[in-house]
Amino acid sequence: MTTPTLVAGIDSSTQSCKVVVCDARTGEVVRSARAPHPDGTEVHPDRWWEALEQVTSGGMLDGVSAVSVGGQQHGMVCLDEHQQVVRPALLWNDTRSAPDAVDLIDELGGPQAWADATGVVPVAAITVTKLRWLARHEPEHLARTRTCVLPHDWLTSRLVAGGGTVQRWVTDRSDASGTGYYAASTDTYRKDLLQLATGRELELPEVVGPREAAGRTPGGLLVGPGAGDNAAAALGLGLGPGDVAVSLGTSGTAYASHPRPTRDPSGEVAGFADATGSHLPLMCTLNAARVLSAGATALGTDLAGMERLALEAEPGAGGLTLLPYLDGERTPNLPTATGTLTGMTRANLTPANMARAFVEGMLLNVAAGVDALRREGVDVQRVLLIGGATGSAAVREIASTFIGVPLVVPSPGEYVARGAARQAAWVLSGEEALPEWPVEHVTAAEPVADPRVEEIKGRYAELLATVHGVRQ
Ligand code: XUL
Repeated sequence: MTTPTLVAGIDSSTQSCKVVVCDARTGEVVRSARAPHPDGTEVHPDRWWEALEQVTSGGMLDGVSAVSVGGQQHGMVCLDEHQQVVRPALLWNDTRSAPDAVDLIDELGGPQAWADATGVVPVAAITVTKLRWLARHEPEHLARTRTCVLPHDWLTSRLVAGGGTVQRWVTDRSDASGTGYYAASTDTYRKDLLQLATGRELELPEVVGPREAAGRTPGGLLVGPGAGDNAAAALGLGLGPGDVAVSLGTSGTAYASHPRPTRDPSGEVAGFADATGSHLPLMCTLNAARVLSAGATALGTDLAGMERLALEAEPGAGGLTLLPYLDGERTPNLPTATGTLTGMTRANLTPANMARAFVEGMLLNVAAGVDALRREGVDVQRVLLIGGATGSAAVREIASTFIGVPLVVPSPGEYVARGAARQAAWVLSGEEALPEWPVEHVTAAEPVADPRVEEIKGRYAELLATVHGVRQ
């Protein structure tokens, strides 16, 4: 038997760092590990490096020929002239720069101007708004900043440097396209927008092509360009035409591989690039799996209890409607919103209806995002559901019904890390075509034809318009 060629993929996500080592030919996972990241919406990048070192220690990378890093998008990593981190990184889910997003949109002439320039209308998640926040609140930190990179750039470049002095900061187009100063439509930085945000020039990482190596580690390991976590997951899932990935983790995202750049002035769909040279229109909510755990806590139960209760209730939760903005919201753009529960009567206020309202509210928000993708021309034929909430039959059935297409759940796995590993295998192969890595689907759900669905969606849309003045 010949020894398989091994590749590794790393997912440096909000909550943890994961590594999978795979057979480069088949994608089969040979071994894996994970280490936690600290909580919070600002984190010192050293913690990510420590977690990465932990998961790659103990022979994890023995026999591995190539590695790539997928990472949480948008985080602002500011480095001084000695490559020291200037302040803890503000993460994608930090909403303090919401007013800066409003200012930047005004200054460029409105949302359409941003959508045309970069494919993205700034919200607090987008890096450019974090830099404006830095300029306003911590000018001394901006003054010390020489280079601004993203979480995956920081890890990738440091891997190549063996943890020492970095000679060349690198990124890839999927992550660069989430900064607000990169145009996925032309594959160029918009340094003028960086200047608009900060009033000065900053050094930015070089954008390495989709199957170009970022370099080699001092130990000789080939390092791929890496990617933003959603683009890496798209690779790991092997998204095809008509497929939309819906990920219900800390964030809720819906995205598809798409041949053309999108420019949505409503900002619901971000026109990101993918990791193959194509595009990845994406919508992102701040309230996903954790809405279910918050609901479980409120009902004095656990996730299994939530699931049982939600399936006991009729669709529509007896008339209860939840706007699930427990952590503020990004899509729709309501960074300071809180949740709203309406429609309560003495008759309908049962634990089952409450549980159902939490599941439905979370999924109605996601389904509205998928409708926004449709409006941008994305062909939605099938949903691939991933993330922490996939184990729930209630979530699977209701998601399929609200989105209105069949849904499949790929076998449990670390799809961001797997996608990064697939990229590493691609770079290593030197071939034009991505290696074929089959994905097994373990569960499926079909949309239920139920006349109540339109009424439920209408009720949600009306509540959103009444409470927040937002029309989706
Ligand atoms: C996407 C986004 C999140 C993070 C989570 O725009 O902000 O999905 O990438 O890691």
